[in-house]
Amino acid sequence: MSNREKVYKFALEHALKKIEKNMKELRDSFPFVTVNGKWEICKDEDWDLNIFRDGYWCNGFWIGMLWLGYKVRKDTKYKRKAYELCKIIEPRKNSNKTHDLGFLFHPSFCVGYEVTKDEYLKNIALTAADSLLSRFNDKINAITALGEPQKSGLTAIDTMMNLPLLWWAYEKTGSKRYYDVACKHAFTTMQYFVRKDGSTYHIVEFDLDNGGIKKKYTLQGYNDESCWSRGQAWAIYGFALAYKYAKKKEFLRTVEKLVDYYIANCPPDYVPYWDFNDPEIPNTARDSSAAAITAGGLLEFSEEKKFGDIASDILDSVCKGYLTEGGGDGVLKHGCFNKLEGKGVDESLIWGDYYFIEALSKVLYSRKE
Ligand code: GLY
Repeated sequence: MSNREKVYKFALEHALKKIEKNMKELRDSFPFVTVNGKWEICKDEDWDLNIFRDGYWCNGFWIGMLWLGYKVRKDTKYKRKAYELCKIIEPRKNSNKTHDLGFLFHPSFCVGYEVTKDEYLKNIALTAADSLLSRFNDKINAITALGEPQKSGLTAIDTMMNLPLLWWAYEKTGSKRYYDVACKHAFTTMQYFVRKDGSTYHIVEFDLDNGGIKKKYTLQGYNDESCWSRGQAWAIYGFALAYKYAKKKEFLRTVEKLVDYYIANCPPDYVPYWDFNDPEIPNTARDSSAAAITAGGLLEFSEEKKFGDIASDILDSVCKGYLTEGGGDGVLKHGCFNKLEGKGVDESLIWGDYYFIEALSKVLYSRKE
């Protein structure tokens, strides 16, 4: 076993211990971000009334961790808990109030289907994919992130990582509806979100009357012209998958540009500050979740060796410097949810943990299957 493999195995063991502990304590709640190392939880209740409440976009990630834990451990208690929680979020399959259907249903129902081949999980995921399709607006060739479908022109970089639900639905059904929308959305994102220097905007608001742009701005980054590091990471993973499924060279070139920017603007350990342009750097927060997402995305490339090498360097660094020690509930420390609002700053984040475990399971298992 190579030294890197030992480091990855140690990290996965650490993650599995946290999952086991959290499984007992969380019962039917969903972890979101930690506060002083303890999970702040989100009950999947009243989501239709209060769709913007923090954490409501996150309830698929914990389920995804349970499925990945089940895949590794083959212990049925992981599977039982994952099913129990899938049932809780299932009613959201018909709600198209946000683009978050991909974050909710891909780690839970799609990953669950891949692990179990249970048709129930597949059918629910396909219904959720159809709900996501209904947010596509052909006046702007994009899936809108928020607001009433077909009346909102608000699009976000994060949507690139809701597309996995559509790519998966395309793979399972062969239906071009999913492929076409995912491809068109990716092209629109490439055109309007990615700057010349390879950095990204967070939000682009379109004018639905003429298809033009109203404004470009940020909701979570340092300022409208800065580059929010998690947005960059969502884009890297999102375009990596777009290239994997559509094989269009424009998407590959986009990943190259995004990654060049990421590497050039990262500290030596490859874990970015929460925003690449915060003037307080180096005295400001890191976002370990952005590193985990970026590594996971680059591991989707089986042929381009340079991406595999960058992914391994990032993952190695996260394993060596960012595991929670002692009492923390989460797997990774030093995440940053929302610096501007002071929420989940220098804490564990459930999606950081999910993408980290997913990346570890890719390097340790999937690639050898
Ligand atoms: N999609 C919300 C976030 O990345 O914080």
